[in-house]
Amino acid sequence: MERLGTETAFEVLVRARALEAKGKDIIHLEIGEPDFDTPGNVIKAGVQALNTGWTHYGPSAGLPELRSAIAKYLGETRDVQVAPEEVVVVPGGKPIIFFAMLALVEEGDEVIYPDPGFPIYESMIDFLGGRAIPIHLREEREFGFEVNELAARITDRTKLIILNSPHNPTGGVLDENDVRAIAHAIGDRDIMVLSDEIYSRLIFEGEHFSLMSIPEFRDRTILLDGFSKTYAMTGWRLGYGVMRADLAVQISRLMTNSNSCTASFTQMAGVEALRGNQSSVDQMLQEFRARREVMVAGLNGIKGFRCRKPRGAFYVFPNIEGTGWTSKQLADALLEEAGVACLSGTSFGSRGEGSIRFHSIPTRSARDAPWALSRSRPRNGRNPQHVV
Ligand SMILES: Cc1ncc(COP(=O)(O)O)c(C=O)c1O
Repeated sequence: MERLGTETAFEVLVRARALEAKGKDIIHLEIGEPDFDTPGNVIKAGVQALNTGWTHYGPSAGLPELRSAIAKYLGETRDVQVAPEEVVVVPGGKPIIFFAMLALVEEGDEVIYPDPGFPIYESMIDFLGGRAIPIHLREEREFGFEVNELAARITDRTKLIILNSPHNPTGGVLDENDVRAIAHAIGDRDIMVLSDEIYSRLIFEGEHFSLMSIPEFRDRTILLDGFSKTYAMTGWRLGYGVMRADLAVQISRLMTNSNSCTASFTQMAGVEALRGNQSSVDQMLQEFRARREVMVAGLNGIKGFRCRKPRGAFYVFPNIEGTGWTSKQLADALLEEAGVACLSGTSFGSRGEGSIRFHSIPTRSARDAPWALSRSRPRNGRNPQHVV
């Protein structure tokens, strides 16, 4: 257990809530979730599912309705034809990281992963006794990495490479050229790639391109996506992996051994999310784009800060080296003294030193919009008690 890491966002949230309990006003920019309500049509479908008996166990790999809807969605968004048998539905995107690594990584296996990056990757590599091989994302390359560096890190022991685009925490995006160059560097080696595409619809410029679209990588890619970010469904717990059918069987077995299945009514809401009107996704993206402008311009106006424009997701990751503070010192001081909760870049790996991560702020228009959910005040008489 000592080798298992964590996600600091949860800890900062607890500290921020403790300060709030003492009467301090806190601006929450630490949370990794959209501050919007789940779209109405999706909520309605979930409620209807509850009322019509979708309240029982279902198949471990997911309901056939949702697996088919996801397979079709993959065809539309990644230009790759997949069968429902290649889809495993799980409670959130995270279990795909957990299960895929549990299935593939053995003691001593090398796993290449982005640093800075989502902390669960490194945590799971360490937990499983794998060797964590970071690939450094570079601010000057818009938070991409040098493909030569990737090539240099691949060895006979490399079992898995983890990609994440759009990227948490930097907002960096791997475009088609980058992904093709990565594919070229891996070549025909027997290495699996976990492609974390949970922010694939939250991209401001250009189009999302998945490694799975490259025919030679179709069977070597485990694509992770889900509903948390795209449809503001973090609390529903719904995500999926797309992978070779034989591996899907094994991951489903891990589901049988852990969760039995994903909640059935949640999955029915997921079918509606994929098949129904997509305007809420467009609205959210538009809003995040507007906030990005405000946030980046504001941060660049602060002495010692330097902030690049993220190309996707909903974070900004300014460089704060010019302040003379370390990331952790500054994040702590912002919380304790200024009442602004954010995350130290080091929460995302040692290469995060020198930066901090903010969730993009709600603009005034967002706060007033009917679908907006401001964290600092109750809405519709409800007091949102977010825990993520
Ligand atoms: C890169 C990345 N992958 C996976 C996840 C997990 O998403 P979920 O809440 O659906 O488990 C997150 C959530 O923050 C994330 O940022």
